[in-house]
Amino acid sequence: MKADIRVNFLGAKLNSPVLTASGTFGYGDEVCDLVEMSQLGAVITKTVTLEPRQGNPQPRIAEVASGMLNTIGLQNIGVRKFAETKLQSLFKLKVPVIVSVAGSCADDYLNTVKILNSYNKIFAIELNLSCPNLKKTIICQDKELFETIIKNVKKISKFPVIAKLSPQVQDIAELSFNAQQNGADAVTLTNTFPAMAININTFKPKLSTVRGGMSGPCVKPMALRCVFEAAQKIKIPIIGCGGITNAYDTVEFMLAGASCVSIGTAALVEPKVLNDTVNGLKNYLNSKKIKNITDLIGKVQL
Ligand SMILES: Cc1cc2nc3c(=O)[nH]c(=O)nc-3n(C[C@H](O)[C@H](O)[C@H](O)COP(=O)(O)O)c2cc1C
Repeated sequence: MKADIRVNFLGAKLNSPVLTASGTFGYGDEVCDLVEMSQLGAVITKTVTLEPRQGNPQPRIAEVASGMLNTIGLQNIGVRKFAETKLQSLFKLKVPVIVSVAGSCADDYLNTVKILNSYNKIFAIELNLSCPNLKKTIICQDKELFETIIKNVKKISKFPVIAKLSPQVQDIAELSFNAQQNGADAVTLTNTFPAMAININTFKPKLSTVRGGMSGPCVKPMALRCVFEAAQKIKIPIIGCGGITNAYDTVEFMLAGASCVSIGTAALVEPKVLNDTVNGLKNYLNSKKIKNITDLIGKVQL
């Protein structure tokens, strides 16, 4: 028996449920030679914004036990330059391209997606709703803005819309449900977790912004809990994200209710992890005599 690891997602059949997480695979073209791209379900690009951004001052990365902290601050070349210089080479990778988009107000999101609407080969848009709004709280915590962005983007987007949510909220299932009710076609759960680290020699925080986002294996159980809770409440598909490093982690997220996963920190450290995960999934399914990987989705037994 040969296991089928393809998954149906947003009207397409993806070659596998393994995606790259936004911000950890560059714009795709820098790292594609290190990865057998045809094995991946999709590439999610680094987040782009309407105007280019320098990002936060250094230091903006710190290693912690079983993970890392970052405060990159959405450094990117801006959507126009991205579309002119990066999109065409991304399309040549022959893997669906999901463009991650952010902004600090509703119009930023809308205007960025309007520009992307001219590029038919885009597979989907991922709205990064985990960044600060103009009042400096994060968009996921600003109910009105959160709803307006999803609703307005959905109205004009030529592509399916995925809402990427922050775990920094009271009730992730409720927020996911809200995303669904406002038109999101899928959700990504989750972005990084708020955290900090201090240098005991200088007495200074290890990140220039004091706090940053934690990612890597240390966040996996928390992200898994988010996926499980949301899956009880929503009908739209979930991309599980947070601390996934191999096929077994992927299986856990799928059992909790994810249709696919995106791998960030682990692939940043070693891009080969993406292919190893795909191959590991085939071995796992064959050893368990499971024909279709989709048979795992939401099948955790309580
Ligand atoms: C260096 C770095 C940069 C990131 N940049 C972005 C980004 O631009 N947009 C975004 O939505 N998430 C960004 N993330 C979050 C990841 O996409 C992912 O949600 C998070 O790291 C959890 O997954 P992981 O534990 O597999 O890394 C970034 C993460 C890291 C480590």
